[in-house]
Amino acid sequence: MQDYIEIIKKRRSYYNLSEDVKLSNEEIKYLFEDIMNVTPSAMNAESTRVVLLFDDKSKDFWNRVNETFDNKINEEKFHGFYHAKGTALIFIDNEIVENQEKEMPTYAENFRPWAHHGAAMMQLNIWQGLRDEEIGASNQHYNPVIDKWVKKLYELPDSWELIAQMPFGKIEEEPAPKEKKPIEEKLKVIE
Ligand SMILES: Cc1cc2nc3c(=O)[nH]c(=O)nc-3n(C[C@H](O)[C@H](O)[C@H](O)COP(=O)(O)O)c2cc1C
Repeated sequence: MQDYIEIIKKRRSYYNLSEDVKLSNEEIKYLFEDIMNVTPSAMNAESTRVVLLFDDKSKDFWNRVNETFDNKINEEKFHGFYHAKGTALIFIDNEIVENQEKEMPTYAENFRPWAHHGAAMMQLNIWQGLRDEEIGASNQHYNPVIDKWVKKLYELPDSWELIAQMPFGKIEEEPAPKEKKPIEEKLKVIE
């Protein structure tokens, strides 16, 4: 229990990243496999998809993102994205969601938000799982502006909807602590 709290306390949004991580690409791939196999999803639908980009493929991705935004991504942020070891692209497969809607019409309105909850849990497990290996990450949203070329470039099914982009790499700098709202505003205990 204590170990877990220590891991989740360490997770932050890391922007200053470099390529120089201790894990090999294969070890990172295995980490993603484990995370994807254990992360829960509504009715076990497993509608989250991940495209894992390493090294030059990740750099090429961020160059294209920056071009899409007229090279206007904040320079410091872009430097960290570009020099990351890799980037995880997170998707929802809407074909699964649509099948669920058809198969269980009583719950139809729930499946889309639940797919997003599942994708969010996946992102958090990735974020924390990487941090436990001393790899920092952040959570970016250049979708939907980049959606079309991403799907074409990586030859992805039409039903895959881009949800988030997570550059990850060696932590070059710890971010400053962030102020948090008083816990009393957020937690109500009833005994
Ligand atoms: C759902 C979600 C969306 C986020 N989107 C972005 C984003 O698009 N770009 C970004 O730089 N950070 C994004 N963040 C990071 C948050 O700003 C950050 O987690 C928050 O300020 C707390 O800081 P910490 O991650 O360092 O603890 C997102 C976080 C969450 C949970």
